Amino acid sequence: MSQHNDKGVALITGASSGIGATYADRLAHRGYDLVLVARDAPRLEQLAARLRAATGATSEVLRADLTQKADLARVEQRLRSDATITMLVNNAGVAASGPLVGGDLDAIEAMIHLNVVAVTRLAAAAAASFVARGAGVLINLSSVLALAPERFNASYSATKVYVLNFSLTLHHELSPSDVQVQVVLPGATRTAIWARAGIEAASLPASILMEVDELVDAALVGLDCRELVTIPSLPDLMDWEAYTTARLHLGPNLSRDHAADRYKRPAGRPCKSPVVGSVAHERKQER
Ligand SMILES: NC(=O)c1ccc[n+]([C@@H]2O[C@H](COP(=O)([O-])OP(=O)(O)OC[C@H]3O[C@@H](n4cnc5c(N)ncnc54)[C@H](OP(=O)(O)O)[C@@H]3O)[C@@H](O)[C@H]2O)c1
Repeated sequence: MSQHNDKGVALITGASSGIGATYADRLAHRGYDLVLVARDAPRLEQLAARLRAATGATSEVLRADLTQKADLARVEQRLRSDATITMLVNNAGVAASGPLVGGDLDAIEAMIHLNVVAVTRLAAAAAASFVARGAGVLINLSSVLALAPERFNASYSATKVYVLNFSLTLHHELSPSDVQVQVVLPGATRTAIWARAGIEAASLPASILMEVDELVDAALVGLDCRELVTIPSLPDLMDWEAYTTARLHLGPNLSRDHAADRYKRPAGRPCKSPVVGSVAHERKQER
């Protein structure tokens, strides 16, 4: 660790651009040394040099393709064995766009490996170390698409639902310890992810597109406030509370020993109203 450091080391995945690179900048300014993980080593080296000059932070570059088992295992091993690491920013991610039918299934599979499998394995490795040491911070990048699946393609938003549910449950699992879990749900943010998914960020309405600096600064305020879920765009926190209350209200009725009465009728009889969650129901709600 460097002289500069008084917070330990933050390991950031996907640190070569966008949200991850911005976390690297902010965390270096907050007194962390860094381990920067991504595939583009030259960009990571440039970032490391810039941050060292600006803040004195030491940044180690750990080149890894997190869709590759051996590379992922190296990063996991680092998280398990390096007691100076006090924070994991589980950020690396890609977005698939377009319909599933006719889509590039190999690209979708690679996305699931990165957005789901790597996030899970790295969180598990970090959590094991943090629990053993009694402290640590785990930040997972989800997306508002976890709450708005109708706005984008099926597989990407599903990976982000995974990250949200995974984080909520992991928080409960780790709550006896002093390990802090935060899941961040950015809305559309101006980064390279759009171009990489074949979408022009400039084609999005300006009113829904946040600059990456503002996004990460807000997420870090949420972290400082020990929020479990941070939705930087959401003006009124009570809306999230109301959503959670409505979800929890379903709880006692989600698993019962008998089907609900509306499903107890002869097969073939027409439905009176669209079934909740069906396309017809969603369309009716949109009108
Ligand atoms: N921007 C948005 O609108 C938005 C909204 C909601 C959530 N998010 C989430 O925020 C996170 C960061 O996205 P971003 O917007 O900052 O995108 P970005 O600018 O494209 O950055 C993605 C990062 O992930 C890394 N990465 C991609 N594939 C990788 C692989 N196979 N192995 C290791 N690293 C890999 C990239 O580095 P290399 O190419 O060098 O490997 C890059 O550093 C993602 O999880 C994304 O889903 C973004």
